[in-house]
Amino acid sequence: MKAKNHIIWHEHSISKKDRHLKNGHKSCVLWFTGLSGSGKSTLANAIDAYLFEKGFQSYVLDGDNIRHGLNKDLGFTISDRKENIRRIGEVAKLFVDSGTIVSTAFISPFEEDRMEVRKLFSKDEFIEVYVYCPFEICVKRDPKSLYKKAINGEIKHFTGLTSPYEEPKNPDIIIDTNSHSLEKCVQIIINHLKFKKILN
Ligand code: PPS
Repeated sequence: MKAKNHIIWHEHSISKKDRHLKNGHKSCVLWFTGLSGSGKSTLANAIDAYLFEKGFQSYVLDGDNIRHGLNKDLGFTISDRKENIRRIGEVAKLFVDSGTIVSTAFISPFEEDRMEVRKLFSKDEFIEVYVYCPFEICVKRDPKSLYKKAINGEIKHFTGLTSPYEEPKNPDIIIDTNSHSLEKCVQIIINHLKFKKILN
């Protein structure tokens, strides 16, 4: 039992294992990290759709959407990004406790912040997926015209231009979205989930 400032931790009567048995699969977080325009959200949504259609319990947490609500008080300074990722890590943990395979699509540019999130989970529960796409291709894709605005100086602290992106040192999966089709990328991740016995 953990106690902090007179706040006492309650154990749930339904365990994570009970939920895994009910769902017929284990839960985990697929932590997608990569540059803006690299394909994080596309991939996270495609995985979610695949899992949903198979009847598995899954959900997506996406940077743009979370910044409309839970994290609308945060901007793009280094400390705001750190807090953004810290909160998402905690939310992802709740989803994993609920028996869900949760896909998170956040740039999460700093290795230290991603490592802090990893610490919240057991070894097999946290799967870091580096969504790799060369910077020039992301600039060319520019699906939201944000690179254009950032290059014109209209957006401050833009990742890859005026704010750093630290490549993952030891990701569990690297997906090259410039070389593989979306279907192939999904297949690589599903194979990993099967290999890790998250799915049967
Ligand atoms: S972070 O770094 O993890 O805190 O960022 P995240 O929460 O994933 O939010 C990234 C999305 O916000 C939009 N956007 C910016 N991205 C990077 N830098 C700056 N300055 C910025 N301003 C707005 C952008 O749409 C990002 O979404 P993606 O899907 O990555 O393009």
